[in-house]
Amino acid sequence: MITNDSIIKLAEKYNTPLYIYDFNGIKNRVLEFKKAFKARKSILCYALKANSNLSLLSYLAKLDCGGDCVSINEVKRALKAGMPKYKIIYSGVGKTDDDIKEALELDILFINVESKMELLRIESIAESMKKDARISIRVNPDVDAKTHPYISTGLKENKFGVDMDTAKAMYIYANNSKYLNPIGIHFHIGSQILDSTPIMQSAEKVIDLVFGLLALKIDLKFIDIGGGIGIKYENEQTIDLYSYAQGILKALNGLDLSIIVEPGRYIVGNNGILISKVIYEKYNKNKRFCIIDAAMNDLLRPALYNAKHSIKHISINKNTIEIPQLLKDKNDFINKADVVGPICESGDYLAKDISLPPTQSGDLIIIESAGAYGFSMSSNYNSRTKCAEVAIIDGKEKLIRKRENFEDLIANEEPFLGE
Ligand code: LLP
Repeated sequence: MITNDSIIKLAEKYNTPLYIYDFNGIKNRVLEFKKAFKARKSILCYALKANSNLSLLSYLAKLDCGGDCVSINEVKRALKAGMPKYKIIYSGVGKTDDDIKEALELDILFINVESKMELLRIESIAESMKKDARISIRVNPDVDAKTHPYISTGLKENKFGVDMDTAKAMYIYANNSKYLNPIGIHFHIGSQILDSTPIMQSAEKVIDLVFGLLALKIDLKFIDIGGGIGIKYENEQTIDLYSYAQGILKALNGLDLSIIVEPGRYIVGNNGILISKVIYEKYNKNKRFCIIDAAMNDLLRPALYNAKHSIKHISINKNTIEIPQLLKDKNDFINKADVVGPICESGDYLAKDISLPPTQSGDLIIIESAGAYGFSMSSNYNSRTKCAEVAIIDGKEKLIRKRENFEDLIANEEPFLGE
């Protein structure tokens, strides 16, 4: 729980916009996941893409989490934060030769292979390094996760994984290869999933394939069931973790595989907020805007997916500015407002048409459930510097990322063209 008092204090101390995370809340989510799956050998490989701050990762490493990575730099982050290499896995449709080589050198648990060509690349790179490449194949089960189309990944029209038949042929090939060691199977059908039925349907399809492979004496050790468990942003009904885990165990049908889960959003989403200050309000005829100092570069989700994050207002500034008669708006106060940032795009909004009491410059606007895909998707668009991040652990605050400044922004650029 992050209280209003601490929000006000942190806003004063570190300025805004600012991300604040509740690490104890994060720990509870990890423990909840582990409890749900405790009947079986399982590894929680936290999906770094949701939020890859190093302090967060090292906190998760101490809770025995591993990492699900989608780039070689995420693999390096996970290792740097102390996640053991045998709990790190690496997925992604476009790994380059250099990425593959580095992943093999770093000796992580396995690489999730997403195409035939990639399998062949891994084999030839492993051969050149005289190394054994542990792999798992990402199967695309062609099941609709019923989520936003941008974050749906398990349909044949999505770029991820390979179909069942291709996967089977790839396993047979890998099993006969001197340098490929197929030890796992993987599926992940999407994110912010609110009904577990499509996950169970996918699990059943994938497990059918595992039985088919067993008949061919291809004996896998791991089933990686991906992430995707949705959270409450407003009033969503979410999946019960215990029944989810039970469903997976049932689908396994007696198979003795270790389960890998890759939750991201579920762990951090509800445990982070983005706090910002009102710069001022304005009316365009009968449209009210509340302009704040956070923008789409800090939290892209509303602009990109029309995602809805609950908004809270903390009144700070009690000195209302008296507007001269000449400049007064003809409108009475309008209850509904768009909460927007300073960026030069009409898509730059954090909330649309929400009820909002009158705000004054300096008041705080809190954007809730911003812990996942918030900072990690932030950018420097409009030459805005990235936010600072603060963690609250056992009631104590810790700055876990400094606010960027102008010097950071231009550090890699060359101001002169030369002679
Ligand atoms: N595993 C794989 C292979 C994934 O692609 C993802 C997310 C996860 C695990 C973690 O999924 P989660 O448990 O967080 O749902 N930027 C979007 C979400 C993109 C998710 C991409 N993959 C958003 O802000 O909603």
